[in-house]
Amino acid sequence: MTIAQLLESRLRAALADPAGAEAKVQPVGDARFGDYQTNVAMTLAKALRTNPRALAQQIIEKMEVADICAPPEIAGAGFINFRLKPEWLAQRFAELAHDARLGVPVPERARKLVIDFSSPNVAKPMHIGHIRSTVIGDALARIAEFLGHSVVRDNHIGDWGTQFGMLLIGWKSLLDRAALDADPITEMERLYKAINAQCQNDPAVRDAAKAELVKLQAGDAENLAIWQEMIRLSEVQFTAIYTRLDVRFDVTHGESFYNPWLKEVVAELTQRGIARESEGAMCVFSDGTLPEKADPFLKHDGEWVPVPALIQKEDGAANYTTTDLATLQYRLREWSPDEIVYVTDGRQQHHFRQLFAIFRRWHPETAVRLAHVWFGSILGDDGKPFKTRSGETVKLADLLDEAVERAFTLVSEKNAELPEDERREIARIVGLGAVKYADLLPNRQSDYVFSWDKMLSFQGNTAPYLQYSYVRIRSIFRKGGLEESEIRNPKSEITLLEPAELSLAKKLCQFGETLPAILDEYRPNLLANYLYELASIFHSFFEACPVLKSEGTTRATRLLLCDTTARVLAQGLNLLGIAVPERM
Ligand code: ARG
Repeated sequence: MTIAQLLESRLRAALADPAGAEAKVQPVGDARFGDYQTNVAMTLAKALRTNPRALAQQIIEKMEVADICAPPEIAGAGFINFRLKPEWLAQRFAELAHDARLGVPVPERARKLVIDFSSPNVAKPMHIGHIRSTVIGDALARIAEFLGHSVVRDNHIGDWGTQFGMLLIGWKSLLDRAALDADPITEMERLYKAINAQCQNDPAVRDAAKAELVKLQAGDAENLAIWQEMIRLSEVQFTAIYTRLDVRFDVTHGESFYNPWLKEVVAELTQRGIARESEGAMCVFSDGTLPEKADPFLKHDGEWVPVPALIQKEDGAANYTTTDLATLQYRLREWSPDEIVYVTDGRQQHHFRQLFAIFRRWHPETAVRLAHVWFGSILGDDGKPFKTRSGETVKLADLLDEAVERAFTLVSEKNAELPEDERREIARIVGLGAVKYADLLPNRQSDYVFSWDKMLSFQGNTAPYLQYSYVRIRSIFRKGGLEESEIRNPKSEITLLEPAELSLAKKLCQFGETLPAILDEYRPNLLANYLYELASIFHSFFEACPVLKSEGTTRATRLLLCDTTARVLAQGLNLLGIAVPERM
């Protein structure tokens, strides 16, 4: 149990309310108001129409917390503040310091999550927009697993659709084998662009592309073989990036995997009256059960007008929505998850609102939580979507190369004496960490401006700063010639005396409060901010409290504070998919 949970259980006992939905206790930012706080007296007083301060007084008289904190105080309009007793906090901290889970509680009920993330498209380079999906999805998966939930990481690759008609013509008429061998995705992208341009002016090419697509859909052997080759080549390049980023998947089912079920989906939705024919296509319209504003099948255009979801085009072909419906059903059958999480950019919000609404009408009995975890764009200095100097979209592989190269320059300036291969390895860890962290730190729904200088800075809220904080602690231990058995000795006595020691211990105890909250709204930035605050509190502690020069219980306490900070930093960064070097 975390400290907040413990205080909540005492509060519920005092309120004689075992359900205690209102009994929330939160850490306080400003130490003048104690360490934890609840506003329960204010919410309850409103419901009971009584005076909140008087009610707060009654609550603290009944609440048994003398073992944990000083007598609770009432502040402002009826807040109850708790100030932890240093001896009690010392004991909590010592438990945490020897706990492999670093005080992170096991969930009351473990859930199963399917996380659909990264999901790039065949024959196209992964671009900087895919990095957000990959990095955010991976962090959520790592966090959920560490908490004790089970996760299926599913890469829903775009390997089907009209673009393959054009790609097939390009492949048959313009393919440069040598270029394909050297860099398959760039060559396939060239083919696509060339034919796409021809299609704009020449209806004959358009028809030819259509014919190739129809042949592919009908299972033509030659087209199938080329299509499979395109998928294989693309996957090789995707895998190279995932290996670099240390991201893994449990399943990689492309969109085409769900083709066998598409007809069934359309038939079932039609039969149940959820979809109907409109101008030759099959569509889902509003069923009028939702308020207009919340209805994804309506839009306001002077008046409310229908925006149906298309599930089958006039030519009988299914589309992205049909595939996503079949995918949803497959995932439920296969894994019976409690939650399915889709990580994509914000432009797909309408698609997912319609998808979820159709699914609810189709399977009203199913309680699965469906979440679209969307994110904003990455912008350049000019506030427009981030591009290369020549105006092209930035390719992910190039971006990662540049990050590592820039980090190498920085690391070499700071540590000219280290051997080159070690500097290269540090640069890899720092460069990739910087890019990932810059992506995870902002509230995911806001756009952010991409800045090499900012993300690679060793000061401020950046990955290099956090990695450096870890390295600094490790160097204290090296300097003192200390063994782990001495630093993390379960027999040492722990006392917290200095304010800087108390606030560091308190912050460390909050790791277990921060992590579970991330999954409420799928916000890894909560962890990034926690780690930054922890590192800042550590630096103040380190300035105020000598470690190696201290003695006895003080030294044992301070060593353990350093060690636990290093472990929480390394573990926290690991959950964001970021490694730590031992030197930098
Ligand atoms: N391939 C899509 C894209 O690049 C993302 C797919 C997201 N997942 C899904 N089930 N629709 O935009």
